[in-house]
Order: sequence, then structure tokens, then C-alpha cells
Amino acid sequence: MLYFKINNRRYTGSKFKLLDWIKNTIEDETQKNDTFCDLFAGTGCVAEKFKNNKSLIINDFLFSNNIIYKAFFDSRNYNKKKIIEISTKYLEIKPSKVSSNYFDKNFGGKFFSFNDAKLIGFIRDKIDTEDCNTSEKNILLASLLYSTDKSANTVGHYDAFRKKIKINDKFVFKLIEPIEHNSRIQIFREDANELVKRIKCDICYIDPPYNSRQYSRFYHVLENLTQWKKPKLFGEALKPKPENTSEYCKTKAPEKFYELIKNINSKYIAVSYNNTYSSKSSSSKNKITLEQIESTLEKKGRTKIFKKKHNHFNAGKTDFDDHQEILFITKV
Ligand SMILES: C[S@@+](CC[C@H](N)C(=O)[O-])C[C@H]1O[C@@H](n2cnc3c(N)ncnc32)[C@H](O)[C@@H]1O
Repeated sequence: MLYFKINNRRYTGSKFKLLDWIKNTIEDETQKNDTFCDLFAGTGCVAEKFKNNKSLIINDFLFSNNIIYKAFFDSRNYNKKKIIEISTKYLEIKPSKVSSNYFDKNFGGKFFSFNDAKLIGFIRDKIDTEDCNTSEKNILLASLLYSTDKSANTVGHYDAFRKKIKINDKFVFKLIEPIEHNSRIQIFREDANELVKRIKCDICYIDPPYNSRQYSRFYHVLENLTQWKKPKLFGEALKPKPENTSEYCKTKAPEKFYELIKNINSKYIAVSYNNTYSSKSSSSKNKITLEQIESTLEKKGRTKIFKKKHNHFNAGKTDFDDHQEILFITKV
């Protein structure tokens, strides 16, 4: 049986393809750093790259990301045999034997086939009733999130589903594989600007959203499945009422960034950025300019800039092909 690894998901802005460059650049520019903080961790793949550090702090304000970090990084006390038995039981469930539920009533024939949506909703209810400890439930739920994402009829996020195509049944329940490491782990689900006032680290890695696309809206189906409060949904993309909207996606972003940097207690700060500012699509235009980032960081300490050419996900909406990935490193 193959297991999901942490990077086996589609996520806008994931740094997976840039991990070696990010790690090597950070390590060349900093001294031995014990505590690595991934403050806007997204998939968590950057944090994973630093798993050999003595201590890791991982934060993102999405509920689904938080469960995923707990399952991958903090599952030290679970019974593997029991989890495999439960997943085998889930694999044997036939959609025809399952009654209609919240998930297929809302998402069937849209984001998923009717059969797949029925199975996903049924398994989500079942996870809550399993006789399992917290680590085991986190693993089951994160596994359901990854398996769900693999069967979604989307281009990678849930702002829209693909129309005019037949949606085939694709859902297969597959387990995630927790990461082996010896780091001390702290996982948070907080607004980054509030969290930095309370933590201390050696390297603080910062990769916020830079355009108007809200992650909580992009990944609303996974947020809904994680929280499982079965809210009323609205509009064509069946989104719940907005929550966890980021100030980094609004006009206040430069002020928020300034406040964040001012309050960070870290020996080094590493900030990822890419130059989509001049992009023609307004939703992918950056809310903070390169110059604003640079001048904010310069106030905090000596700052160096590193660049790399990179092709970003843009769903074909921009005709901007000179994408550059930028990494600022500030010695505070
Ligand atoms: C560009 S993505 C990070 C991608 C990540 N580095 C990776 O490689 O997967 C930005 C992340 O910041 C999170 N976010 C946005 N505003 C936030 C805030 N104010 N506090 C905490 N997390 C926030 C989003 O949920 C999103 O996952």
C-alpha cells in the first residue's frame, strides 16, 4: 500500500519545487539555527525540509492545514495496525450501501461524482465515531483530506469546478505517512501577526499570500470537511460564509507586513516573494511591492536578495512569463 507524503497535494504557491534552493540559500547565509519557524506554512513542505532542526514551529490559520501538520509532524502515539485496519474497512464501503448525506447533497455532480461525494461524507461522519486517540483521528482525517483532494473535479483549488465533463468515480481512501523526525514541534493555527508577538526562533521563514486570492475561499471544501459543522453554502462554488480572510490579500497588506516584521523575535528572517506585481490579471497582482518588502526588512537588519527563475501556477490567466522567485534574508 502506498502512502501520501506531505507534498502530495495541489496547493497554490507551494514551494515544493524550490525547496533545495530555499534550504541551501538559507543555510549558506545563516549560522547554525536550532529553531525554524514556518509562519505561513501552507502545505508544510518547507517545514519538512527543515525537520532535522532541533525545534520546529509551524503555523497557518486554515483548519485543514492545521490537521495536516498535526498528522504528519505530531503523530508519535498511534497504532499503525489499527489505522490500516480502519482504512481497509473504508476501502470496502460501497457507495450503493451508503445513504445520501451533506457532502453529496451539496457537492455531488459538481466538485465530485455523486458516488465519491457520498463516500467522503460518510467516512467523515465515521471518523468522528471511531474508537481512536487524537493522533489516530488526525491521521484518518488528514488521509481523508488528501484522498478527497485527489478525486476533486477542479484545476487544483475549489474556486470553481470543471463543467461540461463527465465526472468519473475516482475516490480511493489512502493513508498519509507521518514524518519521522526528532524535532521538538509546536503547531499553531493563529493569525501570524499575533503569533509572532509570543514566539522566539533562530530563523523565521515568511511566505504570505501576496495577491487578492484568499486561501480560505480557495480551499473552502477542505475547510468544511475538516470542521464538519455542515454550514449553509452559497453561490455557484458552494462556499460557506467567509472566515479566516487574510489582511495580506487586501490593501492593508504593506502595513500588516511592516507590523509583522517589527514584532518578530528571530536571529534571521527569510522572506519568499515572486515578481507577479506587473501581471495583467488583477487578482494575481501583488498587494506589496518588492521595494516595500525590501525597505521594511532593511529597517530590521542587513538584508540580502537572492533570485531564481521559476514558472508559477497561474491557471492560464496571466501572460506574464518572466516569473522570478525571490528570497530575502535579513540578519536581525
Ligand atoms: C503562499 S501560501 C504558503 C505556501 C507554503 N510556503 C508552501 O510551500 O506550501 C500562504 C499561506 O498563508 C496562510 N495565511 C494567510 N494569511 C495568514 C495569516 N494572517 N496568518 C496565518 N496564516 C495565514 C494561508 O492559509 C496560506 O496557506
